[in-house]
Amino acid sequence: MIEPKSTVLTRMCRADEVPPEGVMQVTPGDRDTEYAIYRLGEEYFCTDDICTHGLVSLANGDVENGQIFCPLHGGAFDIRTGAATELPCRVRLKTYKVEVVDGEIFAALD
Ligand code: FES
Repeated sequence: MIEPKSTVLTRMCRADEVPPEGVMQVTPGDRDTEYAIYRLGEEYFCTDDICTHGLVSLANGDVENGQIFCPLHGGAFDIRTGAATELPCRVRLKTYKVEVVDGEIFAALD
């Protein structure tokens, strides 16, 4: 972990591990919780990995037009804001601030 400014950031993965316009599941070394890391263009985003509608990994879903579509029921969330955009999802997905430092992705998880 590094501590720039007042925010504690946790290392998630290398930026080049995340597929373009895609998603990957990451479990940081100091945690037992999975997160989803996304790449949209040259920007990276982080959300909880578990769908708010059921216990399913969103990292197994599809990224389309800035949204992540859940593989179980097809609900979706806006990757940038976490807003639920397609039913049956109604509850917002938690998002985390991301920084890229020297090709490594860090997220403010706390
Ligand atoms: S579990 Fe994700 S939409 Fe139902």
